[in-house]
Amino acid sequence: MLERRFWSNCALILLLITSFSIWHIYTSHSIAIRSVYDYNMSTRYSSFSFTLRNINSSYTYPIHQLPPFDYSTLMNLPTFNFLILNKCKTTPLLLILIHSAPTNYNRRKSIRETWGSKLQNASIFFMLGLVREPKLQQKIKEENTNYRDIVQGTFLDVYRNVTYKHVMSLKYAIYHCPNAKYILKTDDDVFVNMPKIMNFLTLEMSPYGAERLLSCSKRNHSPVKRSYRSKWRVSFKEYPNRYYPSYCPGWIILYSPDVIFGLYKQVQKVDYFWIDDVLITGILREKENIQIHDATSLILPCETVKKILKHEFSYDSTNFLYGPADLSLREMYVLGNFVKNASSLKSTSSVR
Ligand SMILES: *[C@@H]1O[C@H](CO)[C@@H](O)[C@H](O)[C@H]1NC(C)=O
Ligand SMILES: *[C@@H]1O[C@H](CO)[C@@H](O)[C@H](O)[C@H]1NC(C)=O
Ligand SMILES: *[C@@H]1O[C@H](CO)[C@@H](O)[C@H](O)[C@H]1NC(C)=O
Ligand SMILES: *[C@@H]1O[C@H](CO)[C@@H](O)[C@H](O)[C@H]1NC(C)=O
Ligand SMILES: *[C@@H]1O[C@H](CO)[C@@H](O)[C@H](O)[C@H]1NC(C)=O
Repeated sequence: MLERRFWSNCALILLLITSFSIWHIYTSHSIAIRSVYDYNMSTRYSSFSFTLRNINSSYTYPIHQLPPFDYSTLMNLPTFNFLILNKCKTTPLLLILIHSAPTNYNRRKSIRETWGSKLQNASIFFMLGLVREPKLQQKIKEENTNYRDIVQGTFLDVYRNVTYKHVMSLKYAIYHCPNAKYILKTDDDVFVNMPKIMNFLTLEMSPYGAERLLSCSKRNHSPVKRSYRSKWRVSFKEYPNRYYPSYCPGWIILYSPDVIFGLYKQVQKVDYFWIDDVLITGILREKENIQIHDATSLILPCETVKKILKHEFSYDSTNFLYGPADLSLREMYVLGNFVKNASSLKSTSSVR
């Protein structure tokens, strides 16, 4: 959550432009980010902190390690339940859990109509909390009747409760989609390049999943905001240190199931802290001794989104796994068309 602003406001544009210009001198015309396919697999992964599974090593969540009544509690909330629940029907390679505000119907629609349509071996669910207005609840129910892709938990859906939402997502993966090989946690204003990520997971990673995988655009040495003017102000009582541990900004996080389980076990025991990504992928990740795999090079920079909007792109611009956070609705649809156009281009050219 914290670092969304960093991406959303493109605050790093200056740095991006500088590095981009230097890099541009060397690469002349291509504006793409580094290809995900350019690596030799064995050398690429040998130094990494995660391992890939093979046909003989599958994973089952050890639910028996959790305390009794774990299912019906959520951190410090003594009672929890899923008010709307759609279980994973198949055994997807990739489970995608999208944090969405109850009123964001148009955002969910834009995902259903762009990257979330015609999924193969992936499942998408939108994670919601409780709403106060019965009318809105009725609308959500109807939406779910139409799409069957909503999960709603019994905590109030407000900003400061987003940690509950993240923990609910972990809980959902463990109890209701236990056979997914990878879990992607994202937000409803992020673009996911589905054909690329499915290829990436099956060909470059492993169709059998991975172990100790926590991959994202890693943030290091983020200072804790203390100013009363900051939306992200945290008191010394809430968090005493000057910097947060390295963590994964919540808008895109790729988990392997064992990491989900380890972090879930920890988070069910700790005091509530409202910055969900810092708590789960920073503080508790350190306790679990899990390393973050930095996937920044696989993310579409917002600079490239701007070029795509202006039609200044090259074919290589499709070489990304995830789009930046805080896309406008229009950007979401343009990116959807862009990826669709590019893949149809690719298939016609390979036919020739
Ligand atoms: C990848 O790199 C390793 C180690 O340098 C080498 O042994 C292997 O042959 C390479 N594989 C390919 C497909 O180039
Ligand atoms: C899986 O196990 C079988 C039988 O033990 C073995 O022959 C095979 O080499 C193993 N495959 C891998 C990828 O480890
Ligand atoms: C989906 O992925 C799972 C897990 O890797 C695999 O076992 C299954 O064969 C895949 N199904 C399809 C239709 O590709
Ligand atoms: C968070 O949700 C809980 C459970 O519904 C509720 O009691 C609490 O007031 C909510 N927090 C805020 C800041 O509204
Ligand atoms: C995709 O193709 C359509 C039809 O050819 C075109 O109108 C549209 O501008 C293209 N969009 C992008 C983002 O390339």
